[in-house]
Amino acid sequence: MGTGATITAVELDLPGRTMGKVRDAWPLPGNRRLLITTDRLSAFDRVVGVVEHKGQVLNQLSVWWFEATADIVANHLVNVPDSNAVVVVDARPLPVEVVVRGRLTGSTSTSLLPRYLNGERTMYGYRLPDGLEPHGPFDEPLITPTTKAEKGGHDQPVSCDEVVARGLVEAGLWADIQKVALALYARGVEVAADAGFVLADTKYEFGLSPDGELLLIDEVHTPDSSRFWETSTLDDRLAAGLTPESFDKEPVRLALRAAGYVGDGEPPELGAEVWVETSRRYVHLYEAITGRRFVPGERPIEERIRGNVASFLPA
Ligand SMILES: Nc1ncnc2c1ncn2[C@@H]1O[C@H](COP(=O)(O)OP(=O)(O)O)[C@@H](O)[C@H]1O
Ligand SMILES: [Mg+2]
Repeated sequence: MGTGATITAVELDLPGRTMGKVRDAWPLPGNRRLLITTDRLSAFDRVVGVVEHKGQVLNQLSVWWFEATADIVANHLVNVPDSNAVVVVDARPLPVEVVVRGRLTGSTSTSLLPRYLNGERTMYGYRLPDGLEPHGPFDEPLITPTTKAEKGGHDQPVSCDEVVARGLVEAGLWADIQKVALALYARGVEVAADAGFVLADTKYEFGLSPDGELLLIDEVHTPDSSRFWETSTLDDRLAAGLTPESFDKEPVRLALRAAGYVGDGEPPELGAEVWVETSRRYVHLYEAITGRRFVPGERPIEERIRGNVASFLPA
């Protein structure tokens, strides 16, 4: 499905499809999984629209980062049959999303900055000092896990201690995951800085392979899972009381909020320029981070994907 120029869902002659907010996935023989990244955009935990090139950017940028972080932790990547698709190790996803934050930011009422400005100082088990600047750095990056919500639900924040206390992840494994997450984030910050961005925060998902190996799964350091801010304009914007210029889905989040939408009911229609601008930002981020030119894959997209993945499907 899609217009030919965008891809909103993929039909394959293969049983067992699961649809996340952004990816369509199928189990493959031999403990493999086919993940196809569509152009769907989610905000407030719902699909709210479609952004041209987004699926390809996410897929190719994740592949790039999986390769650029493979010395830190093993990942799920096996093959890249198409610019919108990967074949991965079918892992058992751990039931927490590992969010790492370097900056005091966020725009919804439940995110850190509004809560901090409202006087709260204890969040996710951390005691924050007084005097932090809006959108400014923490002394050290914070790991702020959330439980993975069922479809349609909202992720629930938990502290690092609660992850173990609630039996979500065993203590030794959770200690390893925290070290890995901080090392990944440090790598992300360094690479982003060279490309002219501040990686303000990001989210990792981990899983266990069939032999119990810890794997980085899903996606990594994409504009869907991360906030990337333009470094060159940051100080001036903050000094002027503006928010950072963000190369991610922030234009959509802001437009939705301006329309009074916070995730309940049908999302409002947004002007075409919001989607065009978001697409431009995703593509720009891809090019700046990877140093490669973005070359849109052939169209119509769904037919191309079907052709490219055919040899990876069971006969
Ligand atoms: N290697 C993997 N093995 C099993 N599940 C995976 C793997 N990589 C990603 N996933 C899962 O596939 C889904 C990806 O679809 P996505 O649209 O990103 O979902 P979500 O709506 O949860 O963000 C997620 O539920 C993610 O946990
Ligand atoms: Mg996801």
